[in-house]
Amino acid sequence: MDHQKISFEFEVYASSDQLTKEDAALVAQAREVTSLAYAPYSSFQVGAVALLSNGKTVSGTNQENASYPIGICAERVLLSAVSSVYPGIPVETIAISYHNLNGKSDRPVSPCGICRQTMVEYQERLAHPIRLILSGMEGKVYVIPQADLLLPLGFSGDDIK
Ligand code: THU
Repeated sequence: MDHQKISFEFEVYASSDQLTKEDAALVAQAREVTSLAYAPYSSFQVGAVALLSNGKTVSGTNQENASYPIGICAERVLLSAVSSVYPGIPVETIAISYHNLNGKSDRPVSPCGICRQTMVEYQERLAHPIRLILSGMEGKVYVIPQADLLLPLGFSGDDIK
């Protein structure tokens, strides 16, 4: 029997004011697009913005439905758009933020498991790590060097080969 330990390092900023200009602009854009979410059922508006290696940015927001499971998270809306509009262009960074209309929005957002899986496959597909900047409308900001760190022992295409 052997014990294995998985840990990872990430950066914690007290607020988005402490980020580089480029990162702060991406966070500001993610916060801004939260208002474009269609989230009448949860009132939890999520915005995600990708900075691509060609310098372009693409945004996505969560899109809900009266048939709840049909709703799509902002991160997957975003990556579907990126893949459709800029196929083959790597994603450098994704900033994700949220506005909780029923409560506070001052803790970094935590992407759901399906979105983690989706982001990791996108990384692998383009063989390029995706950096994540997680925040709310205010407060602490987490910078995760690459998406797969949020999905240890994850399932991938390699497992099916
Ligand atoms: N949601 C996202 O869009 N991204 C996340 O990282 C967390 C959750 C959405 C799904 C649903 O529309 C609402 O937030 C509440 O769960």
